[in-house]
Amino acid sequence: MTETAPAVPTPDFYHYPWTVPSAVRVDGRFVQLDWADGLRLRAFDLWLAENTMGQAIDPATRESVLDPADLPDDLAVATAQLTERGAVVVTWTDGDGPAVAPALFHPGWLRHVAEGAHRPAAGLPEPIPWLATDLGEPPTRDGAAIASDDELLEAWLDDLARYGLARLTGAGTDPDLLLGVGARIGAIRDTNFGPIWDVRASVEPNSTANTTVRLCPHTDLPTRETPPGFQILHCLVNTAAGGWSTMTDGLALVEHLAAEHPEHHEALTTLRWVFFNRGPAVDHRWSGPLVDGGDDRPLTIRAFHPVRGFPDCDEEDQPRAYDALRRFARLAADPRFQLRYPFAPGDVVAFDNRRVLHGRDGYDTDGDGGGRRHLRGIYLDHDEVLSRLRQASRRRTPPAT
Ligand SMILES: [Fe+2]
Repeated sequence: MTETAPAVPTPDFYHYPWTVPSAVRVDGRFVQLDWADGLRLRAFDLWLAENTMGQAIDPATRESVLDPADLPDDLAVATAQLTERGAVVVTWTDGDGPAVAPALFHPGWLRHVAEGAHRPAAGLPEPIPWLATDLGEPPTRDGAAIASDDELLEAWLDDLARYGLARLTGAGTDPDLLLGVGARIGAIRDTNFGPIWDVRASVEPNSTANTTVRLCPHTDLPTRETPPGFQILHCLVNTAAGGWSTMTDGLALVEHLAAEHPEHHEALTTLRWVFFNRGPAVDHRWSGPLVDGGDDRPLTIRAFHPVRGFPDCDEEDQPRAYDALRRFARLAADPRFQLRYPFAPGDVVAFDNRRVLHGRDGYDTDGDGGGRRHLRGIYLDHDEVLSRLRQASRRRTPPAT
């Protein structure tokens, strides 16, 4: 049943359809709500108490102001029923404690919990693993309007969340383009390379990236506890011979290893390495497996070999750690998994730095200033991009009318 929503506030700022349960009853310490389509929510008494508007939830911030230490020991739901308009009203008993006022809950808000729409992955695109032989080239959109077009920005980020890789072409060569685009997504992640950094051959390189050598498939900054979630590269100049970009979907690669080489998959997901940045002014270090995360945690591939310092596992495990490492590195550069494509001025390529391995062919500059390759880059954490996508998803869901 859907009807005009009365003003029942929710413990957030979002809109929910007014979806009234067909039955509400108390069952021990739970309130059980059933909807006509078979969906059920069993809401624990203390969780309901923590979500009562005006008592536990501050109407201004919609955050809880209730210290769990102050939840009454004897609190229990006495009754749960529907109002005439279909809101859920709960009354309480609490032994000898102070009176607890009845609480009113929005039925659509309760249903969104039953649907799992409160979970982090809700409303986000499902990741699609890909092979280079399937994709052919990065998912690409015309980026001419990226500096101001929010719809284009969100469509591009949607591609990025699905494939871990999304390209814009024709975005121009304003050297600060990424600062503006990044700020419209969320906070840019600063590092010791600065909020925006250059990738070009340098006489005093601060990273292997700033040379002309081939970069094998890798992920940036595995030396951090949480490496940057996304990376965006913007090509300003490219007149150099060679230097094609490469991208490998680590999600597809890890699935392949699990299916075809389980002993290597096991070694890659359990045996640790110490990664460290060696530099005169930094000493970032982290120890983790090459393939970290997985299950319900984001995949984090730690694979920048110039900063992989030491095996961090028992002596007897080191031969199989290296066997698995070689298998991983060879497959990551295999044409079945690895896309190769040229970078043109005005191209903007975003990728999931913890899922997709990027690299480049070596390139030649002519030494006379005639052959140059100049990219600029920024990092953003997963949280910023996913928050932006959730907001876009919520805007597409019409409020109750
Ligand atoms: Fe890199």
